[in-house]
Amino acid sequence: MAYMKWGDDLSVGVPMFDREHNGLVKIINRLHRGLVQNADHALLREIGAELVEFTVLHFKHEEMYFHDFPYAGAEAHIAKHAAIKKQIRSYYQLIDAQHRAELGFELLAFVRDWWSHIRDVDREFGSLFSAHHAVSRDGTAVFASSFTSRRSLRR
Ligand SMILES: [Fe+2]
Ligand SMILES: [Fe+2]
Repeated sequence: MAYMKWGDDLSVGVPMFDREHNGLVKIINRLHRGLVQNADHALLREIGAELVEFTVLHFKHEEMYFHDFPYAGAEAHIAKHAAIKKQIRSYYQLIDAQHRAELGFELLAFVRDWWSHIRDVDREFGSLFSAHHAVSRDGTAVFASSFTSRRSLRR
């Protein structure tokens, strides 16, 4: 059974970010499976490195849009990303040092923090993003609407 389940409760209302969050859920599930099945060190290290890389890229992707429209939470959101990046990098160091006993506990802490990040700040940003961007049918190509940005400034 999957450790973390993707569902509408994790949706932020922006397909491209939902897809990336779902991608992170899949990596976390692979890592959890590896821990439960006592996978060899090389495999855990590979999945851990993928988790770090994907997390960093995903945060960078979200942050690309933080200044497209007035987003008061931008600075706090960036600080939260920085804290999660620090957390995930120290988690990777645990994998690297083969501290298996601590890995399960730390993964749980990471997932809990990241889960609340999605449901809290990512969702808030997601609804602002949807209000200010036109999204193509496949959810990838987006462009800011300066008209709606200006209108929201006047509110
Ligand atoms: Fe996110
Ligand atoms: Fe975020």
